[in-house]
Amino acid sequence: MVETSHIYYGTIVHTLSVKNLEIIQQAVLVVSNGIIVKLDRNVKDIDAYISSASCTNYVLHRLGEHEFLIPGLVDTHAHAPQYVFAGSGMDLPLMDWLNTYTFPSESKFKDEQYAQDAYAKTVHRFLRNGTTTCSWFATIHLAACKRLVDTIHDLGQRAYVGKVNMDQNSPDYYVEASTQASLDDTRLFIDYTKAKAGHDRLITPVVTPRFAVSCSTPLMRGLADLAKEYRLPIQSHLCENPDEIKFACSLFPDCKNYTDIYQQHGLLGPDTYMAHCVHMTDDEINLLATTQTGVAHCANSNFSLQSGVCDVQRLLSHGIKVGLGTDVAGGFSPSILDAIRSGFWASKMKKVIERDMHGNSDYVCLQPSELLFLATLGGAQVLGLQDLIGNFVEGKAFDALWIDADRGNVDLIGDLTIFQKLEKFLFNGSADNILHVYVQGRRVSGVPDDENDLASS
Ligand code: GUN
Ligand code: FE
Repeated sequence: MVETSHIYYGTIVHTLSVKNLEIIQQAVLVVSNGIIVKLDRNVKDIDAYISSASCTNYVLHRLGEHEFLIPGLVDTHAHAPQYVFAGSGMDLPLMDWLNTYTFPSESKFKDEQYAQDAYAKTVHRFLRNGTTTCSWFATIHLAACKRLVDTIHDLGQRAYVGKVNMDQNSPDYYVEASTQASLDDTRLFIDYTKAKAGHDRLITPVVTPRFAVSCSTPLMRGLADLAKEYRLPIQSHLCENPDEIKFACSLFPDCKNYTDIYQQHGLLGPDTYMAHCVHMTDDEINLLATTQTGVAHCANSNFSLQSGVCDVQRLLSHGIKVGLGTDVAGGFSPSILDAIRSGFWASKMKKVIERDMHGNSDYVCLQPSELLFLATLGGAQVLGLQDLIGNFVEGKAFDALWIDADRGNVDLIGDLTIFQKLEKFLFNGSADNILHVYVQGRRVSGVPDDENDLASS
């Protein structure tokens, strides 16, 4: 049987690089088997286009006047079990926050049924906010980690999923029985996830030492070996908070700095990405650059946990890959739109600090188009998925959001350019503006049909 193609006709907005936003009007995007097989620009007459191309088995979707497609949003760092308390417990800095709220809450995922119920709500909420790809931290519990993978598989998100590893400096009620048990469970989790992902491979296991504080040397070495054996990505936390940095460095006195701890344990490289990287020396920045390690910029969390202001321009100027992360629940919002806004504030804040504390007025803030890049193609680069997702290049998967800028909390008054409509969506929009969410061509979320006058399109 011939597969039905889907033809999208209207405006497309995406980025080709950090400095290159492209707005395509009268675009024709043809999707077959979930893959973008054709992208044409400035097509005046879609009916003539279709008959001249002698398309047969297709569905045509026409975008309305205030509507456009953008690439699906990429969250490079979120903790699935922490969504249950996102938006509460906002008073403490990192280490106290972990001990007071996070570890007690994550320890409840020992109960598989509780985990399953929580994960269903969590993944649903992230998809509804347009996160088509997410890099998840789960918990230390193998059974609950498998339920997260099942849930993601059922709901159709593209995801990296990590069973968290912790074998030291953790509370008695939330620590793995031994280093070997931690490694054994990780291997079981990897095998389970690869089998579950099947041939469409939307889900990938990611090796996830929580942070150097909670992982022994044998554990980190063993995890580096596992990542190598299975050729898997690695994610962790780095240089988030001054107390955390001090503690980590005190545990590994032979390492030059926090970043060097991961380097000495074989954990840095082009398939590794680290959350935060707020307080980095020049040596550490250079180490990330030379190893091609990526960064998840989690600005909401960096503000909420009083961690600091990450200098994204400094990372970019060293050629370091950067994406955005919600870091739920260090960050209180499950939406990458919020990460864009928090990233915008962090950049403005950095400018003010440079100007008022250092007398330097040259600092250049991130532009909205650059923030869209970080939220899409930048995130894809961090995850090593730049050949598959991140923009609408032929041959990539159709991971996309169909946006209606004239809905919900956004009012469009007077004549606005497409770029202004994009900005209004990025800064005033919400899930209400996201009509359809597609992962590899499949509609996985969006405005419910009964509220959606475009349900037939
Ligand atoms: N460092 C170690 N664990 C965590 C966590 O769960 N959240 C954040 N923000 N930082 C961490
Ligand atoms: Fe985190």
